Amino acid sequence: MNICCIGAGYVGGPTMAMIAKKCPNISVNVVDINEERIKAWQSDDLPIYEPGLYDVVKESLNRNLFFSTDIDSAIDNADIIFVSVNTPTKTFGEGAGRASDLQYWELCARRIKEVSKSDKIIVEKSTLPVRTAEAMERVLHSDKSDIHFEVLSNPEFLAEGSAVEDLENPDRVLIGGHDTDSGQRAVNVIVDIYANWIPKNKILTSNVWSSELSKLTANAFLAQRVSSINTISALCEATEADVTEVSHAIGTDSRIGSKFLKASIGFGGSCFKKDILNLVYLCETYGLNEVANYWQQVVEINDYQQVRFVRQIIQRMFNTIAGKKILILGFAFKANTGDTRESPAIKICRELYAEKAEIVISDPKALDNAKKDLIDLENIKYEQDPYKASKEADAIAVLTDWNEYKDLDYKKIYDGMRKPAFIFDGRNFLDHNFLFNIGYEVYSIGKGHQSHLD
Ligand SMILES: NC(=O)c1ccc[n+]([C@@H]2O[C@H](COP(=O)([O-])OP(=O)(O)OC[C@H]3O[C@@H](n4cnc5c(N)ncnc54)[C@H](O)[C@@H]3O)[C@@H](O)[C@H]2O)c1
Repeated sequence: MNICCIGAGYVGGPTMAMIAKKCPNISVNVVDINEERIKAWQSDDLPIYEPGLYDVVKESLNRNLFFSTDIDSAIDNADIIFVSVNTPTKTFGEGAGRASDLQYWELCARRIKEVSKSDKIIVEKSTLPVRTAEAMERVLHSDKSDIHFEVLSNPEFLAEGSAVEDLENPDRVLIGGHDTDSGQRAVNVIVDIYANWIPKNKILTSNVWSSELSKLTANAFLAQRVSSINTISALCEATEADVTEVSHAIGTDSRIGSKFLKASIGFGGSCFKKDILNLVYLCETYGLNEVANYWQQVVEINDYQQVRFVRQIIQRMFNTIAGKKILILGFAFKANTGDTRESPAIKICRELYAEKAEIVISDPKALDNAKKDLIDLENIKYEQDPYKASKEADAIAVLTDWNEYKDLDYKKIYDGMRKPAFIFDGRNFLDHNFLFNIGYEVYSIGKGHQSHLD
């Protein structure tokens, strides 16, 4: 069996590497228009950072896992084509700022139609608006040739930072197909691939539309939990309740559950915001304005939480941060990834910059991306070593929950800072009493301030 995957990004690369590892008898060809990315997949310096990914790729590379820019040959030779290209938010025209930009996806559909000489199963791996498969089928079957394309939906639920673990042992895999003989045959082919390492009871099947919509819904529900607890964090700060205690108390209710209940500066990453906005747009398209407004609020609370964090920094530092040195500890949108797409750090740094703060950014994996994100801001400093970066700083803003930040020598850092030394924990994960006892002015989301000055 021969698989082609179009799109060698955060999803295409890891998912195909896992299929190749678990199914040595299947030839997996990952193709992309981005030559630099393809070269990086073939090298020792992979284009994305994910714990454990290097070993998974190396195990199958050039055995049954191949990366190439020869898209046409890979399509032509494939029995199954996974389409895993980017589907960002549209920035122009109808639906700008909310709808999915499907131009990359449509280009793929047209290429597949043009190059294919035999029947193929086409699998939507990208996250797409519900009923996209219908449009894909129209493009693929537009010239009335005898070639049959069976379009399935198999959305990806991996989370960046734990992609390998998620792929190896997922909560579930979802495969949507049409309720026709050829649809069900195609679904079974994909089920059999995953069944090589995933228990059958974790492989769910559904109709195509349910599968497409489930992905948007899953992300919307996850993001909604983050925004929900973040609204409560603001109320905790006003009332001296402690959001960690509230999270724990409500999370132990098995109907609620404990995950995604951590107050913070909010969610980031390439998916949550774009997928909720897409859901909002879809609801509006179907005339469901109340439903659209409901989900829109999840995004707005996320923005509010970041603005609120910056406001706290300014207020606490005597209502001015002009000329003050602020160390940004962590720029990635979450720990264990170098990805900075939609990272809350971008907005927070821009707001601090507008207040004329002197910004130094430190991150173990994301500095290259941070430089690109803030390329238009002058005089931002980037320093991998947090100790060097903190010299003479007035404040530290912790924006990513990298585990290693728990183990820093905060006494040593405190000694090198200007006084009063402030620390703002945007991830609510440090030992705040310990920091306060060192001498820091401490702020954490949902707990408020601990000050030696009041
Ligand atoms: N990143 C995640 O954590 C994640 C998780 C689940 C689902 N998704 C979804 O998966 C899809 C891909 O996301 P990603 O993060 O991997 O994106 P990405 O930007 O990292 O990768 C997409 C790749 O597709 C390539 N591409 C675009 N058009 C092409 C074309 N016509 N031919 C060949 N290659 C082309 C790009 O060059 C790029 O390398 C999106 O729909 C996203 O919403 C992402």
